[in-house]
Amino acid sequence: MKHDEEALKEGRYWENVIANLSSEGLNFRAREDFVAKDPKCYWEDGRIAKRVLEYPRKAFKGKIRHGMKVLELGSGSGGNSYIMAKLGADVLGMDIQENIVEYLNKEIASEPDLKLKFQVGDLNKADLPENHFDLILSWNTFHHIQNAERLMVEVKKSLKKDGLFVLLEHQHTDSIIRKFLAAFFWLALPTREKFAEKWKIIAGRAKGKSEVELSPAEDSAPEDYIQKLKEAFSVKEEKSYFGFTAPFIARIRAPSKVRSMLVSAINALN
Ligand SMILES: C[S@@+](CC[C@H](N)C(=O)[O-])C[C@H]1O[C@@H](n2cnc3c(N)ncnc32)[C@H](O)[C@@H]1O
Repeated sequence: MKHDEEALKEGRYWENVIANLSSEGLNFRAREDFVAKDPKCYWEDGRIAKRVLEYPRKAFKGKIRHGMKVLELGSGSGGNSYIMAKLGADVLGMDIQENIVEYLNKEIASEPDLKLKFQVGDLNKADLPENHFDLILSWNTFHHIQNAERLMVEVKKSLKKDGLFVLLEHQHTDSIIRKFLAAFFWLALPTREKFAEKWKIIAGRAKGKSEVELSPAEDSAPEDYIQKLKEAFSVKEEKSYFGFTAPFIARIRAPSKVRSMLVSAINALN
């Protein structure tokens, strides 16, 4: 299959995800809405989604300064870009989804004081301006990029001296131990799925199958790109985001207070 067709498929997949959520009243300004309604997560409680999102958001929120030039790679639902613009940054969100970019640009026209713009672009072929951005954020996007190494070079070129690249990723970053722990919690705790169903899902995952439809480019970045990133950048801080627990704790069946306590306990393990 030609690369352009792949890119189109990938863009359409995400457009459909977001369009389905929009039909349920998605508010792009509150990304927790997006997560709360994500069929892959089955969040029942938007407040818990918000608390879980606060954790990875710490990776960029405290770094934003007024007037900073920021680029978000794979801006998707636009919520993170919106938060950064609200904090005073001059933000460009880039994504392959034409319809969403058009929708977001129309939405933000109602807030003309914000320095926020969305642009269509295939990150596999990105040609970023040189020495331009103070901060580049990629929130679970890099693993969709077959040309991850090329994009890494573009990111480096486009960052100013002392610029910051904030990368949140699960592919090739979550350890076997964390995956095991997450699976253990999910098996042990009362969740939406019946016990037998969970074993089936685990057996499927062990064979590389997923119980939900994934995007065509899911996990398509090459194996060694994280290592190459670490060599290319001076890594100041490495945080582990216990990504696999997010969907699991979202499925816990328990009274709201108990679920909230479990979320805190599992988050503390991060
Ligand atoms: C897991 S979603 C992350 C969503 C987004 N960061 C957010 O917070 O809502 C991955 C995003 O990457 C985008 N994407 C995937 N492949 C891309 C590509 N080749 N070029 C540009 N964007 C891409 C998708 O359209 C999607 O919005």
